[in-house]
Amino acid sequence: MDNIKALATDIQNAQSIVAFTGAGISAESGIPTYRGEGGLWTKYDPSKYASISYFLQNPSYYWNFFKDVRYPILKKVKPNKAHLALFEIENAGNLKTVITQNIDGLHQEAGSSSVIELHGTTRTIICMDCSRKYTIGEAFTKLERQIPPLCTKCSGILRPDVVFFGEMLDPEILRDAYAAAASCDFLLAVGSSLVVYPAADIPLRAKQAGAKLAIINIDSTPLDSVADYVINDAAGKVLPLIT
Ligand code: APR
Ligand code: ZN
Repeated sequence: MDNIKALATDIQNAQSIVAFTGAGISAESGIPTYRGEGGLWTKYDPSKYASISYFLQNPSYYWNFFKDVRYPILKKVKPNKAHLALFEIENAGNLKTVITQNIDGLHQEAGSSSVIELHGTTRTIICMDCSRKYTIGEAFTKLERQIPPLCTKCSGILRPDVVFFGEMLDPEILRDAYAAAASCDFLLAVGSSLVVYPAADIPLRAKQAGAKLAIINIDSTPLDSVADYVINDAAGKVLPLIT
């Protein structure tokens, strides 16, 4: 408990906090994480369900997975206490931005006003031919009639607005995330296994630029040894204690 009290004091004194989040922060909203116990990738092969090469060969494979597995969860989830606690820290005036690997849009729904989505979002779907954007609701209506969903305008195949394995992250988004990490004085990493790059490089860059680093994650991570705080507990329990 002393560790959490010390972290809460550091958070209150910090001038420019950046939060870096992964799937674990949405776990208490009911969205499965990817790795660790019960993780999505322990049941579904990411080289098929989350890689651009497989999507281009067989878009229906992804869209059936999305329709049967992902969308039923995503359409009913709400932000949890951890998302709301980050919004509280922003309201207190010293959290500048949330950098997230998540594609669920829950930080924005919790009220966070500056969110950098490294891996895109499931909230919009785009046409691979004319780049027309659709909402997740519009796409799901299409999905119920045909798989893969096709563009109304040009009949092109629609794809999720996410970064698949095998794709590069948007360089401007990554540049903004690196800049935020380099200019913060406290990096709060929450609910990430910190194994996927280049995203996992961000907490390290903050630390190398002189920021303090706290890792709140149920399992241990490869960056624990360089962190100032490591709290292996649930985000929804810990974050409200440090706001
Ligand atoms: N509170 C805190 N941490 C939690 C909780 C919780 N309630 N539940 C799970 N965790 C931790 C797990 O211990 C795990 O280490 O969250 C971490 C989630 O790790 P991953 O499932 O690997 O998710 P993430 O780090 O976001 O993955 C990065 O990999 O598959 C790609 O694009 C996908 O963005 C994702 C990226
Ligand atoms: Zn189109």
